[in-house]
Amino acid sequence: MSEIAKIELGGKVFEFPVITGTENEKAIDISNLRQDTGYITLDTGYKNTGATTSAITFLDGEEGILKYRGYGIEELAEKATFIEVAYLLIYGNLPTQDQLNQFRDSITKHTLVHEDMKQFFEAYPAKAHPMGVLASMVCSLSTFYPESLDPHRSAEAKNLTIHRLIAKLPTLAAWAYKNSTRHPFMYPKNEFDYCKNFLYMMFAMPTEDFNVDPVVVDALNKLLILHADHEQNCSTSTVRIVGSSQANLYATISAGISALWGPLHGGANQEVIEMLEKIHNDGGDVDKWVAKAKDKDDSFRLMGFGHRVYKNFDPRAKIIKKACDDILEKLGVNDPLLAIAKRLEQVALEDEYFKARNLYPNVDFYSGIIYKAIGIPTEMFTVMFALGRLPGWIAQWKEMTENKEPIGRPRQIYTGEVLRTYVPIEKR
Ligand code: SDX
Repeated sequence: MSEIAKIELGGKVFEFPVITGTENEKAIDISNLRQDTGYITLDTGYKNTGATTSAITFLDGEEGILKYRGYGIEELAEKATFIEVAYLLIYGNLPTQDQLNQFRDSITKHTLVHEDMKQFFEAYPAKAHPMGVLASMVCSLSTFYPESLDPHRSAEAKNLTIHRLIAKLPTLAAWAYKNSTRHPFMYPKNEFDYCKNFLYMMFAMPTEDFNVDPVVVDALNKLLILHADHEQNCSTSTVRIVGSSQANLYATISAGISALWGPLHGGANQEVIEMLEKIHNDGGDVDKWVAKAKDKDDSFRLMGFGHRVYKNFDPRAKIIKKACDDILEKLGVNDPLLAIAKRLEQVALEDEYFKARNLYPNVDFYSGIIYKAIGIPTEMFTVMFALGRLPGWIAQWKEMTENKEPIGRPRQIYTGEVLRTYVPIEKR
């Protein structure tokens, strides 16, 4: 017999169905709550509210588990390529060799952006933050593909937009960086795989041969996989709600990029490195900064620490922390910030304040150290997060549209003035 939830309101008992997911998560389905009771629920920040059902990503915050379509990220990060994982997230299964070849060839074919877009880049100041450039450029792609504005276009046409986005985001990201250095833009090379092509467009110069250490390519592949999806986080929820209005996918992804930019979300990876540099330059007194993070009168927070869902180690942070040691050793990089990060983690995890609040390192705590070691400039860190998260955003948008979910429109409880009449300005 299926479980039901009973709510007593005004002396009357109302019953609501309980739904159970494939990982035994349970939810009270309150789809008819207002119609049956006249009441709504209130849950600022959606800490207890499920917005949807989804078959894409499962995470268990208490146990520190993260799986994409049922595959553990530990296995995927070790054995898969980012493009393989993108296919898995978007289409639901790991691709066969033929499917992967077709997917990869289609992406390779669409890596160029319209030449007119180069003028857009040139209009930005050199100091423009690349996330602002990227969000604008992605939305601008919709102006070159007006057919993408039709929400009722065929599945093939939607797929073409998906492939265009995956293909062009690295080009736009690398060109945003080149624009900031005022170096010549490098065009994608079809013979390179996804990660090597991005690194080529980022760091190659027309006057020199391009060589990249396979360790760097592998590190980027791993980082992108670990960022690929994370169920209903802030930017993914943004993508779902913007997409639910049937806005085109370019505008929808642009909204996701903007939400990710925030320092409490994807912008944290840049904040972490800037925090570690501040601590390093301040003499490396970790205890002093941990005390500041605990001080309610001090706005300083330990960036890269804490998580809305993980109340245990973020499994991605564990993998990235280990990868840090491997990659820095292979590259012969000795970054003092890594030692500070490890000391910070050790002090915080032994401190009652952090333990009582289940604050552990999250995905952003160590990722910046690897990005720095492979030559990615700090301001590009959140762009790297967006590159990784793109297939997750697309997969979640695709699932939402295919499930024909209604336009997202939450309710509220009004707490303002009840009724006032207009008074002429001279009498106010
Ligand atoms: C990402 O949702 C996702 O899945 C996101 C993400 C993804 O893959 O999409 O995992 C990526 O965004 C990771 C998080 C990156 N952000 C940061 O590292 C910024 C620093 N962390 C925080 O600001 C905070 O932990 C959040 C935003 C991540 C979570 O905030 P919550 O869940 O709203 O928790 P909260 O702010 O209410 O904090 C609870 C308590 C508070 O203290 P009390 O009021 O109980 O006394 O913990 C404290 C907070 O002050 N706290 C911190 C802290 N994080 C929370 N104190 C010091 N340093 C911190 N980092």
